[in-house]
Amino acid sequence: MTQTYVDIAYIVACVFFILGIKKLGRSRTARQGNLFSMIGMSIAVVAVFFESSFMDSWSPRFLNNGYFYAVLALAIGSLLGTIWAKRVQMIDMPQLVALFNGFGGLSSLLVALAEFSKYYAQQSFTTANKLSSIALGLTIIIGAVTFTGSVLAWAKLAGRMNGKAIRWPGQNLMNFVLLVLALGATAVYVLPDFAANLKLLAIVGSAIISLLLGVTFVIAIGGGDMPIIISLLNSFSGLAASMAGFAIDNNVLVVAGCLVGASGIILTIIMCKAMNKALFSLLFAKYKAGKKSDGDYVEPKSLSVEDAFPILEAAQSVVFIPGYGMAVAQAQHVVKELAQKLEDNGCEVSYVIHPVAGRMPGHMNVLLAEADIDYDQLLTMEEMNPLMGQQDLAIIIGANDVVNPVAEDDPDSPIYGMPIIQAYKANTVFVLKRGQGMGYSGLENTLFTKDNTVMIYGDAKSTISAFVKEFQDLAD
Ligand code: TAP
Repeated sequence: MTQTYVDIAYIVACVFFILGIKKLGRSRTARQGNLFSMIGMSIAVVAVFFESSFMDSWSPRFLNNGYFYAVLALAIGSLLGTIWAKRVQMIDMPQLVALFNGFGGLSSLLVALAEFSKYYAQQSFTTANKLSSIALGLTIIIGAVTFTGSVLAWAKLAGRMNGKAIRWPGQNLMNFVLLVLALGATAVYVLPDFAANLKLLAIVGSAIISLLLGVTFVIAIGGGDMPIIISLLNSFSGLAASMAGFAIDNNVLVVAGCLVGASGIILTIIMCKAMNKALFSLLFAKYKAGKKSDGDYVEPKSLSVEDAFPILEAAQSVVFIPGYGMAVAQAQHVVKELAQKLEDNGCEVSYVIHPVAGRMPGHMNVLLAEADIDYDQLLTMEEMNPLMGQQDLAIIIGANDVVNPVAEDDPDSPIYGMPIIQAYKANTVFVLKRGQGMGYSGLENTLFTKDNTVMIYGDAKSTISAFVKEFQDLAD
């Protein structure tokens, strides 16, 4: 009877998950979406305590009691999660998301290993049906790949290692061989003919090979392609959870995992479209020996705020192009102030956001919304590019890769084919950045040396505040 209530609770939890994901699709309802998902997860967690298989783990002896370990794990996880979420800075959010994906994969891996150890302790694998045995093997592979792949993605995003793609000859073949070995080991576990100790060896081997595969697979991706791989790993973490659900026969895990897996793959497709990349060619790109730059360095023109101000003051139309540097500088509020000054001066102001500007999907939208920027002034890249030639001034605030013309001009460039905001078409371009720092892709930006481009060096917030002050001084 209790199990019936548990199943009903699972269905209610799933409804909350689905509503939560739907509401997360729009920034206006996103908070509500988070709340719905939290309620769903809380219902699911409480219901698990009443699962008949879980109730069997009750024991009067503390250290033998499954409830003791579950409550302990919940307490540690909740504490760590709360501290982490409170401390994280907005610009570090993508790294945190990458780690969350990794922990999702790791927990699925651990669930599968625990389930295996149960069978191994009984020295009998006949109680598991074929489907859940296959699911267990796949959970180990996907969970392990997700774990190490996400930790590597975190290290690249957090600047703990070189963010560039690291490739070597025969890498795709090596990845393929590792995958075949991991699947072969899974077959040893699933097929009935093998002894328990051999199955143990196969499962441990599959986990180790898959952990290695996560590294060799993600290390080959770098620079501007990272957003795609992060959403793919997010999808993998869902897939691993859903496989774990099949392995331990838990419906809510199957549904929740499928939701994450499906939404992650949809996001991956959206990212691929935004960057004009085919997922297959990105994952299985051929090794190319590095090409040395021809060394003709041209110094970009730069102006001080005071010298650049007359151009700004005379502009009748200005488009702001925010990028990762705006997030670092937290310049969104002063951008809004400057926009107000420009409008008071009779200038038409608009904003354009590239889909992969910043370090996470919607990064710039969130920042501009925080500064209360009018949605009507916000244009997509597709809307703005045809109008760019009519703009007196494009002000690039800490963006680099998303305005780099090599994506259009240089077939050898790793970002070739990625649609860019065509800032170079504006009459004048101001680039606000601190110095000679590269963008995430680590590429030279040919926009900076174009005739109509002017660099204004300094922290974006200070530079924009200085422009605001120039307007104030003019009014006084
Ligand atoms: P980036 O190409 O990363 O360029 C950011 C620029 O901001 C740098 O050149 C840096 O130059 C400047 N900057 C840093 N701090 C600054 C500050 N305080 N004030 C002024 N400028 C500052 O940024 P983007 O154009 O937004 O492109 C995003 C890149 O990240 C793309 O390659 C994208 O593929 C990748 N990526 C995106 C995501 C998602 S989902 N959006 C996820 C992972 C990776 P200085 O050091 O000289 O100041």
